[in-house]
Amino acid sequence: MAVVPYKDQNNNKKSQVAQMFDNISGKYDFLNHFLSAGIDIIWRKKAISLLESQKPKLILDIATGTADFAIEALRINPEKITGVDISEGMLAVGREKLAKKGLSNKIELQYGDSENLPFEDNSFDAITVAFGVRNFENLAKGLAEMNRVLKPGGTAVVLEFSKPRMFPMKQLYHFYFKNILPVVGKFVSKDNAAYTYLPESVQAFPDGQDFISIFEEVGFKNTKWHSLTFGISSIYTGRK
Ligand SMILES: C[S@@+](CC[C@H](N)C(=O)[O-])C[C@H]1O[C@@H](n2cnc3c(N)ncnc32)[C@H](O)[C@@H]1O
Repeated sequence: MAVVPYKDQNNNKKSQVAQMFDNISGKYDFLNHFLSAGIDIIWRKKAISLLESQKPKLILDIATGTADFAIEALRINPEKITGVDISEGMLAVGREKLAKKGLSNKIELQYGDSENLPFEDNSFDAITVAFGVRNFENLAKGLAEMNRVLKPGGTAVVLEFSKPRMFPMKQLYHFYFKNILPVVGKFVSKDNAAYTYLPESVQAFPDGQDFISIFEEVGFKNTKWHSLTFGISSIYTGRK
């Protein structure tokens, strides 16, 4: 059974996820940085730095949301970044941010589903996804699509929450994720389900070696897994 945000609805995970991110889009950036105490910024920097030596010209940022990961990727000086997402609400916040920063010519945001990407085979030098893959309805299909649109020799970088397994971080993390994050998230975002779905979806996600196995099954090679901040997040990289 897929973990979905709105358990009383019977539409599929993809439409529920899009609806949820539409609902919270106005508060998403604030809650992201507040609830992670800004650590997400460090994780994003670390993930993008893994692409630096390859100097990718064309980057696709999947599940781009409000474009924070795409903006971070500008640091490595690509010619162009395309960001895709299934939430028009998140894309609207992202477009406004890019316009304010004068970055709309470097980063283009468009509607796009990770499981059916609107691009030709072998189109991008690098692919990035931050906190997106956990939300895919069909993880293997989304990863296979990433592989399809990546150029041979190109690299995919995936940043995603994972589960800390060591005492005392495991216990502290469970307490925070179960008792504090949903209460603050609900209060600020006014969405009853989004910040309960977050810990549930992390719990259900195949992290670590399990993710690497699926990543390799769909065709990625030279895969690597970097654990961040006691295992709260992980970066996975793979080449085509
Ligand atoms: C937690 S947000 C991450 C946004 C951004 N990458 C960041 O780092 O802040 C997850 C995003 O994934 C998007 N998403 C979920 N499933 C998707 C899919 N199948 N295709 C494209 N985007 C998807 C959601 O709409 C949402 O904007």
